[in-house]
Amino acid sequence: MFDVCLITFSPTGSSLRVAQAIANGVGEKIQTIDLTAPRLHIRVCQSSLAIIAMPVYAGRVPAVAVERLREISSRGAKAVTVVVYGNRAYEDALLELNDEAADLGFEIVASAAVVAQHSVVGSLATGRPDADDLDSLRVFGQTVKTGIDAGEIHSVVVPGNRPYRDPMTVSVTPLVGDACTGCRLCVTQCPTQAISMLDPKYTDLSKCLMCMRCVSVCPARARSLPDAMQKAMAEKLSPFASVRRENEFF
Ligand SMILES: Cc1cc2nc3c(=O)[nH]c(=O)nc-3n(C[C@H](O)[C@H](O)[C@H](O)COP(=O)(O)O)c2cc1C
Ligand code: SF4
Ligand code: SF4
Repeated sequence: MFDVCLITFSPTGSSLRVAQAIANGVGEKIQTIDLTAPRLHIRVCQSSLAIIAMPVYAGRVPAVAVERLREISSRGAKAVTVVVYGNRAYEDALLELNDEAADLGFEIVASAAVVAQHSVVGSLATGRPDADDLDSLRVFGQTVKTGIDAGEIHSVVVPGNRPYRDPMTVSVTPLVGDACTGCRLCVTQCPTQAISMLDPKYTDLSKCLMCMRCVSVCPARARSLPDAMQKAMAEKLSPFASVRRENEFF
């Protein structure tokens, strides 16, 4: 039996770091379920408390993460739900995650919306979660544990609207430059198998989430979004670069 089961979808690692920081405040034995890996077998949460964390994409949680979450057997575990966002907004994402987790039979005992460096436009929330964030996440985990131990569990209300916002449509994939060595790390790391094993310069747009994992793992720094898209996003998001948003705990 594990103390905590981390269930994460974290293409560029921030949601995982956030979940681990919360788990540090809760318990010692940690089971991990990585939703970026394709489904291999039925996944069972073997703990009495799950920490479910995933990023916000256009104010929603990623559809593929939700699909894979639905494959998990909750065994009626308690859950802390967490959305991680890049300093713009999380809109309906936390409400959507809570609806899904509740449908799966998890008993939601606490939720959080946490800020992390934007995985597309790194000038937003650069360096976050920082030391203060990690400390407050650990304290949040401790508070959750104390509440559970004391039998003090309240219903959790989070912001958001139903119906949820329209999901994001992906119109471009990362492109590959001449520096590509053909190592195929991007192929094996892509959460949706969108990159061709035969030719890693080919990415299937219909499968791509624009999650940025391939860009971040490429050892040759050969992958990047098309310049026009990168510039358009940087411009659109520039008003959020100078704001420091605080994490919210529910
Ligand atoms: C396709 C895409 C859409 C995003 N949409 C939003 C958004 O709506 N609001 C926001 O604040 N951040 C947004 N972000 C930033 C991510 O939510 C943020 O960087 C998060 O930390 C990524 O999590 P990860 O490191 O676990 O992959 C988006 C990132 C990507 C790649
Ligand atoms: S990870 Fe980079 S270098 Fe390796 S195959 Fe992919 S694009 Fe090429
Ligand atoms: S190809 Fe698309 S889905 Fe796959 S890792 Fe790259 S950005 Fe993510």
